[in-house]
Amino acid sequence: MMDNKKWWKETVVYQIYPRSFQDSNGDGIGDLKGILNRLDYLEKLGIGAIWLSPVCKSPQDDNGYDISDYQDIDPMFGSLADMDALIQEAAKRNIKIVMDLVLNHTSDEHPWFVEAKKGKDNPYYDYYVWRDGEPGTPPNELGSIFGGSAWEYVPELGQYFLHLFSVKQPDLNWANPKVREEIYHMINWWIDRGVGGFRLDVIDLIAKEPDRLITGNGPKLHEYIQELSRLTFRRADLLTVGETWGATPEIAKLFSNPDGSEFSMVFQFEHIGLDEQPGKSKWDLAPLDFMKLKHVLSKWQTELKGEAWNSLFWNNHDLPRIVSRWGNDGEYRVESAKMLATLLHGMQGTPYVYQGEELGMTNVQYPIEEYRDIELLNLHKERTDQGYPQEEIMASIYTKGRDNARTPMQWDATAEAGFTTGTPWIRVNPNYTSINAEQELTEADSIFYHYQKLIQLRKEHEVIIYGDYELLFPEDAHIFAYTRTLDGETIIVLCNFYGEQVPYALPDSLTGEKELLIANYKDELPQYLLRPYEARMYRLKVNP
Ligand code: NOJ
Repeated sequence: MMDNKKWWKETVVYQIYPRSFQDSNGDGIGDLKGILNRLDYLEKLGIGAIWLSPVCKSPQDDNGYDISDYQDIDPMFGSLADMDALIQEAAKRNIKIVMDLVLNHTSDEHPWFVEAKKGKDNPYYDYYVWRDGEPGTPPNELGSIFGGSAWEYVPELGQYFLHLFSVKQPDLNWANPKVREEIYHMINWWIDRGVGGFRLDVIDLIAKEPDRLITGNGPKLHEYIQELSRLTFRRADLLTVGETWGATPEIAKLFSNPDGSEFSMVFQFEHIGLDEQPGKSKWDLAPLDFMKLKHVLSKWQTELKGEAWNSLFWNNHDLPRIVSRWGNDGEYRVESAKMLATLLHGMQGTPYVYQGEELGMTNVQYPIEEYRDIELLNLHKERTDQGYPQEEIMASIYTKGRDNARTPMQWDATAEAGFTTGTPWIRVNPNYTSINAEQELTEADSIFYHYQKLIQLRKEHEVIIYGDYELLFPEDAHIFAYTRTLDGETIIVLCNFYGEQVPYALPDSLTGEKELLIANYKDELPQYLLRPYEARMYRLKVNP
């Protein structure tokens, strides 16, 4: 069955982390004008939308995920006029701008919170989540995702407020209809400015019930989201994607119901947790369980079919670089980056490319003083206080720290990778002299052009967008392979996930004459073998 056609199913989204993308004024921080100057590069890549991490006014305690004015741009990034210009210039290149909506919490410097703290009879008091408690004894054991208690005491009020993230990110009270009304008004204001969609930060937390220790997927969640969607998103043909760490396929089907009552799709993270110790945190490392990865990604492909829509991603601003994580950032960096891209882009769903992924940018290993991320720095302090060996703490940071994704975009081999003429807010990955966009644009077989081709193939072959998915070789411990079929057209994707050559044997139904659509080795082996990290995508010429 063909899914309902939608523009956001057929596009590829590029995520920009503005402070690390391109600085235009030499202050060491990326900005909107910098993005504008790089639109031609993005058009060349072929993407149809940009997800911009937050650019609204913010004290930057969590790099913009702590907003103090939803209807203004942080001066560090530019002005509203720059934002309007970006929307317009992007539109000329058929690129839509998807804004990041942080609706679970505001900054503690947002005027609503400044007012709220003034007293229980202040009209804004009930915009946040307050509970009684004695100093030193929080209302309950709820913890902040960034470490420590989720409750902070305000002596003037003799009460605690809830913050599921940093103490400078107080949680909004969605049970208050006034809060919801203000938010809808703000979203409609952005829709009227011409944005093409929204990514909704930790949206599955908004219906928390802290007294029952419920944070994610609270009982009223879908009621709130349906109201939100009805009063805002449904006015326009938008791409909306919810960030939902706790989603199962069943939950995702509610969020991404084809009736359009909630979001276009969600980011689910089941595959992202497959290299940590079960039941522990992301910092407690374990080798990737490859068989589970195959199982999990395949499950999402088949379970959402016709009932919801997948987002496809390896990377974002919270995750380490995929080539360092599940590829090989040494000898096979180019091959493995292309393999991972092929594996993902052949699947059903909307692919997201995170800035620098298309260049095969890698993780970094810095001394602790060079890191900037609040989550990472809190973790370092917490585990140091708990007596963990430094080596173990740093191994977790090198492997999982969010700053891996946040080092500046590597544009060229000049000072600071062409990111800034000043001093960058975070150190540039020293490998920029060999890994950078300028270099890749001159090499026909670069990772950049591989991504460009994958994006182009999606435009040319409807089967990649709407076709059925079937996993091949489910028991194979090295190969991730699958087919996509639509109206008698078949695509075969074959990926060797590891650094040793492996044999394979296609089922009889797939041995017919094939057209090679894309590969990461120049020549084709005559035998049925896949070389280290080899990836091949074929189209069957004669269908079974
Ligand atoms: C999820 C965002 O992706 C992350 O960067 C941020 O720290 C938290 N939400 C809090 O807003």
